[in-house]
Amino acid sequence: MSDTWQLDSWREKQIRQVPLYDDLNHVEEVEKNLRSSPPLVFAGEARTLRKQLARVSEGDAFLLQGGDCAESFAEFHADNIRDTFKVLLQMAVALTFGASCPIVKVGRLAGQFAKPRSSSTETIDGVELPSYRGDIINDMSFDAINRNPDPSRMLRAYNQSAATLNLLRAFSQGGFADLHQLHRWNLDFVKESQQGEQYDEMAKRIDESLSFMAACGLTSDTIPQLRETDFYTSHEALLLIYEQALTRQDSLTGRWYDCSAHMLWIGDRTRQLDSAHVEFLRGVENPIGIKCGPSLNSDELLKLINVLNPKNEAGRLTLICRMGAEKVSESLPPLIRAVQSEGCKVVWSCDPMHGNTVKASNGFKTRPFDLILSEVDSFFQIHRSEGTYAGGVHFEMTGQDVTECIGGAQAITEESLSDRYHTHCDPRLNANQSLELAFQIAHRLKSQRDSEESENRNSGEAVA
Ligand code: TRP
Ligand code: MN
Repeated sequence: MSDTWQLDSWREKQIRQVPLYDDLNHVEEVEKNLRSSPPLVFAGEARTLRKQLARVSEGDAFLLQGGDCAESFAEFHADNIRDTFKVLLQMAVALTFGASCPIVKVGRLAGQFAKPRSSSTETIDGVELPSYRGDIINDMSFDAINRNPDPSRMLRAYNQSAATLNLLRAFSQGGFADLHQLHRWNLDFVKESQQGEQYDEMAKRIDESLSFMAACGLTSDTIPQLRETDFYTSHEALLLIYEQALTRQDSLTGRWYDCSAHMLWIGDRTRQLDSAHVEFLRGVENPIGIKCGPSLNSDELLKLINVLNPKNEAGRLTLICRMGAEKVSESLPPLIRAVQSEGCKVVWSCDPMHGNTVKASNGFKTRPFDLILSEVDSFFQIHRSEGTYAGGVHFEMTGQDVTECIGGAQAITEESLSDRYHTHCDPRLNANQSLELAFQIAHRLKSQRDSEESENRNSGEAVA
């Protein structure tokens, strides 16, 4: 790999998962438009997120990353954004409370539009058309015009991202995320459920603490941390012409930042060492995620880490492991050991969604809640026995009451999948399932902390 990185040096590399546009002049026109549009995030915010992720890598915080598999133009609505944000807040508060540890909140939102596909075309009834690659590229409906990649969709995705981010900023800083509002984040259809009740109980206990603090003079007016939360955005950096057009040189440091989101990740399908995607991302300073699937071997991973984080800076890299419940105990330990032996500073995060997709007997693509939980469990156990820190989770979820993943306390069955199956791509956890999972994880984090504390106490006694 040549040492000089340039904004467009990725164009010399082998690229996978690219749409074939037929009007290249139109593509250039769109790129020009995006280049002169305002950045969506500010470099300083990406630096702050890196610092917070550095704390995660040191075991002092926990990463919660979640949101849609694919955002869509059709479902762009303030209510949808609000409801997903509510569930993320509920999950975050359950984790903060249960684990007594700061939670770094990152949405798969405001830019998660491009999807990698296993095949570049799809054939239905003998008709072959380009595969759907996400709303930023083409339309899901199966006809020749809609499936043809349309460059102007990049502008629509940019505008939708800007509007989404604007609302998220307003929510997180404008009072909606105030801890005194936590009863209001419980969605109506969640309230009646077991998780809704568990949430209410926790909320009551937090309320009591807040009243006590208020009596001591600590209120939202005096303590901004009670009133506001930092919320970051992320998506897969897949459509590189779009990412390049939104990359800017920071006037403060002279460094390059991809200002389409705070954090970007490289997919499991585009993470080859010589790939255009790796080349592009090595030159931007944002925090970067690498999706690690079961086909990734330790050697490749170490080389990748070296290319993307040559100075071994904490907070730069998050390894998002998506092994599958069945493979995780075999595939994860070698990666952990390799990373440990080289002393690489990384955040270990668990994506229990992508390795656990199955086809239901009625043809629906789904994910069993039990497998998702089982992968999270194994992830925690493996890190415990390797002496490393399980630092985060990565979910595909929504605030809507969908029926896409089977199981959970609600016991969604294969038969009921067809009731409200709305995803544009992969099956997502619904609000109840997301909250249920957050409580489960909070419980594990808490017992992890408790046992560490008692170990410390015991070893202290032994010395004394
Ligand atoms: N500012 C703190 C944090 O973000 C506390 C907080 C405020 C919070 N609003 C929140 C935590 C909503 C979780 C959810 O952690
Ligand atoms: Mn997905």
